[in-house]
Amino acid sequence: MPVAYEVPRLHVVSGPPPSVEADLVVVPLAEDHVTSTVAEFDAAVGGALSAALARGEFTPKSLETFGAPIVGSGWAASRMVFVSGGPRGEMGPERFRRMAATAVSMARQQRRARVAWVDVEPGHMDAAGRIDILGEAFTVANFDGAIHKSRPEPRFFLSDVTVVSAAAGGLDRATAGRIVGDAVNSARVLINEPGNFLVPRTLAEKAASLASVDGVSVEIFDERRLETMGMGLLLGVGRGSAEPPRMLVARYEPADAPTDATLGLVGKGITFDTGGISIKPAEGMERMKDDMAGAATVVAALRAIALLRLPVRVVAVVASAENMPGSRALKPGDILRGASGLTVEVNNTDAEGRLILGDALWYARQIGATHLVDVATLTGACIVALGKITTGLFGTPQPWVDAIRAAADRGGEKVWQLPLFDEYKETLKSDIADMLNSPGRPAGAVTAAMFLKEFAGTGPWAHLDIAGTAWADEAKAWMPRGATGTIIRTLVELGRAALPR
Ligand code: BES
Ligand code: MN
Ligand code: ZN
Repeated sequence: MPVAYEVPRLHVVSGPPPSVEADLVVVPLAEDHVTSTVAEFDAAVGGALSAALARGEFTPKSLETFGAPIVGSGWAASRMVFVSGGPRGEMGPERFRRMAATAVSMARQQRRARVAWVDVEPGHMDAAGRIDILGEAFTVANFDGAIHKSRPEPRFFLSDVTVVSAAAGGLDRATAGRIVGDAVNSARVLINEPGNFLVPRTLAEKAASLASVDGVSVEIFDERRLETMGMGLLLGVGRGSAEPPRMLVARYEPADAPTDATLGLVGKGITFDTGGISIKPAEGMERMKDDMAGAATVVAALRAIALLRLPVRVVAVVASAENMPGSRALKPGDILRGASGLTVEVNNTDAEGRLILGDALWYARQIGATHLVDVATLTGACIVALGKITTGLFGTPQPWVDAIRAAADRGGEKVWQLPLFDEYKETLKSDIADMLNSPGRPAGAVTAAMFLKEFAGTGPWAHLDIAGTAWADEAKAWMPRGATGTIIRTLVELGRAALPR
């Protein structure tokens, strides 16, 4: 089976640009660029850039490109491409990531294996942050998910990326970015896998191998163990499937980390969501193989945090089951008792994510997580609210939500907070159990988060609903169709920051 991606070799050199051995030289350009910063490159292409700008053939709007052969003497490379970032004021981490990925997809189409990025346009970032994002983006863009074709189309990956920059510590930052990009790609591979290849047992094994890096310990709980732990919500969801559920716990506890705070990352790992007895319509159901994206996200983030040796304690808890309508399946109206002791009336078996997360959140708190974040493809209602552009953010107290928003901003990922007003809690009332799992259509993303809140304890907790953002339906120049790997970067940035008290 072919690999889905290759990690390019990274080089950071201070220049001069003409001396760089590459098959394609990429020059980033702001819409409001200063002509003198690109003069050298315009000269290299014999004035083709200024001519194209003057003719309006190249309008340097965001992510527009202009390629030309290098005609100037003394250049090692034969072709140059200018990639616009739009107005400089918009050129933050997300824009640089997309610019780099756009350039890589162009290089791969043209079968150019060695790409040089000339770091002449700062946007509104500092050099270190920019080079970190570039290291990530070059790696993420070197991905081809079509690994199950028996006659694969010819595949082409970058071998080398050279960043031309005089920034101090540039190679370290590019390498850090590449670690994140590698983690993102490993999550995308898992998320893209179909439900017949990835069941809870194999998800747990593959997640364990991803988490098996220096300083990380991993445990997997099988169905018997889950029984003795009282994980009735996770077991209940798994009951309709011949494939037993699993829980995975990974801990990264470096000696230099503060001992009074532990980041707890909790992921939804439904390897396929048919809806169970409350079965989903056939149309589009195949997408439900990505219902373990939250699980892949938290494991990949823990892997990156450990490889980066960040001085922070992290535990990842993944709850995994296959939501199937088998003969032993959960039925609407059934009552489950979770590990926390709370009972839940399951009026809709398709609201399964909140059930398995209930047990996982509670358990993460039990094993010492002080600051919780869960990541889940939780609700279609979140897609209705925010579309496929923005991840839903919920949580309490506000400084913790703000910390996550700030981490997402630094990572260049879009999140937007939705409310958790007490009034919404009414909808979760059941006549005969402590709670109802599916309170109906209004504010569906919020009521799902309200349900989770009941299991998260009293400390800081946040929930990221990636139902809309985990999967790209449409290919873009910077991202193919399929799993996106979103939120991993945000969690790594969170690991870099001090946890608020
Ligand atoms: N995994 C789905 C949410 C989902 C839907 C993700 C579409 C991505 C795309 C989740 O388990 C689910 O089925 N949620 C239900 C909840 C409802 C029954 C309260 C939903 O959103 O319809
Ligand atoms: Mn469901
Ligand atoms: Zn689901």
